[in-house]
Amino acid sequence: MTVPAAPPAAPLAAPPAAPLAAPPAAPLALLAELTHRCPLRCPYCSNPTALARPGEELDTATWARVFQEAAALGCLQVHLSGGEPTARRDIVALVRAASEAGLYTNLITSGVLTGEAKLQALAEAGLDHVQLSVQDAEPVSADRIGGYRGGHAKKLDFARLVHASGLPLTLNAVVHRQNLDRLPQLIELALDLGAGRLEVAHVQYYGWALANRDALLPTRAQLEAATATVEAARRALKGRLVIDYVVPDYYAKRPKSCMGGWGRQFLAVSPAGRVLPCHAAESLPGFDFPNVRQVSLQWAWEDSEAFNRFRGTGWMPLPCRGCERAELDWGGCRCQAFALTGDAASTDPACALSPHHGVLSLAVDAAIEAGTAFTYREPQKIPG
Ligand code: SF4
Ligand code: FES
Repeated sequence: MTVPAAPPAAPLAAPPAAPLAAPPAAPLALLAELTHRCPLRCPYCSNPTALARPGEELDTATWARVFQEAAALGCLQVHLSGGEPTARRDIVALVRAASEAGLYTNLITSGVLTGEAKLQALAEAGLDHVQLSVQDAEPVSADRIGGYRGGHAKKLDFARLVHASGLPLTLNAVVHRQNLDRLPQLIELALDLGAGRLEVAHVQYYGWALANRDALLPTRAQLEAATATVEAARRALKGRLVIDYVVPDYYAKRPKSCMGGWGRQFLAVSPAGRVLPCHAAESLPGFDFPNVRQVSLQWAWEDSEAFNRFRGTGWMPLPCRGCERAELDWGGCRCQAFALTGDAASTDPACALSPHHGVLSLAVDAAIEAGTAFTYREPQKIPG
């Protein structure tokens, strides 16, 4: 399949509007954001800049109902996330509830709050998989990026506990200008810790990451070196370590298929119960996201205006409408479109066909000139 390499010089006539979206298939996965509380303060955190207060969080019984409803809807797995999900005192009960609902349970954690006894209790409750974040391979830098002194050493201890328990472990490394040069050491770290999978994810710039963009955007040379490192490691480590690689939009010619398309494969529930098509959507203005306190997950997924607004291709503006890639990338990311153009319904500027594509190279140029200081989210007390 080929696409034009550059925007057309003359405006295109609008093709006829696409038909309405087909009824949605079952979502593949539920992201359960159990809390926004977290001892770490990563400058690229995907939580909204306005964090949910602990008093707003859903209780155990409501989450258990959400897990049952997700399974009935056809979801296969739940990612238990946050914030730091183990900051919830009822995390063992929540894992048990998700497991009893028949969901494959993945704990996405910083690892700094979980010792041997709690990990064993989580495993006994039915935990299937652990995904541990690391901020860098070098301890001083890792602690600085996470805004939590001693955090890196605690993560290594936790990873060893996970490996000893027999639970499968994925290491998640969010990469950017200030740690990307140590990607080879991050790959070594994943091997040392017995991880079966390493996710190397370039920062996605919404929320906190957008506020820290100048300090995080990599240079093109860094990106090219990292991509070559990943390709070589994949060849050398085949059968030992799977490496997932999420490339940065700011050097792209075409956008990623964010979330596999709005309302197509994925749904998230926020700590306060809002049902969202992606983890960052809560920051989009003009939406009335349904809440599991008032509606079923099925209604939110199938019938809510929020999920249907950008479902399929009928909503698309030019140049997406009629584009050969419309059902491959679904017009890119709505949150990035809003962050960079002020309009969530516009083509993602990561696409070279977008009239706003130039804002990305301007941002890269500005970042390379900028310093390395971070704006951190406020430290939060973790009760218990
Ligand atoms: Fe086509 Fe829109 Fe995707 Fe660009 S973002 S490749 S115009 S569908
Ligand atoms: Fe929200 Fe891409 S992060 S649609």
